[in-house]
Amino acid sequence: MAEELILSKNTTREQTYKELIPQIKGILSGEPNLIANLANVAAMLHEALGMLWTGFYLTDSAEELVLGPFQGPLACTRISFGKGVCGTAAASQQTQVVSNVHIFPGHIACSALSNSEIVVPLVLHNKTQLVLDIDSERLDDFSPTDQQYLEEILAIIGDHQEWSE
Ligand code: SME
Repeated sequence: MAEELILSKNTTREQTYKELIPQIKGILSGEPNLIANLANVAAMLHEALGMLWTGFYLTDSAEELVLGPFQGPLACTRISFGKGVCGTAAASQQTQVVSNVHIFPGHIACSALSNSEIVVPLVLHNKTQLVLDIDSERLDDFSPTDQQYLEEILAIIGDHQEWSE
């Protein structure tokens, strides 16, 4: 069976998320492998939102993130908790919405083309299991709508997989 994302063209980002979510649930259903599922979710978000970089960092040890499935240019492999936008989201367990990465203290510039960024952590068993990172070439490209739907998508992944304590 062909796997294809079906999305309306020239619509709002909210409508795009509404169309994307059932398709994400469909692609996850019946597949337990975390890496396979994260790879497809990264691809779906990247295609749907048209961003510079879309991907996951997974908690590798208590205080470090390691690069997971992503779409976009080459990225840094490891990020310590507390460093950059990803490490801040991982350590604080709070979504970070950065309208201008150039004025975020400690921002890690994997690509000089990135201007704004959102990082959403997935916290289960009181532990940051992974973060979703999306970078945009546009300034101020992420709103509370993005935060709401991306947190919902991470909750769907959280409910679907088994997680370590
Ligand atoms: N900018 C991120 C690093 C990861 S890349 O953008 C893919 C940060 O500051 O954590």
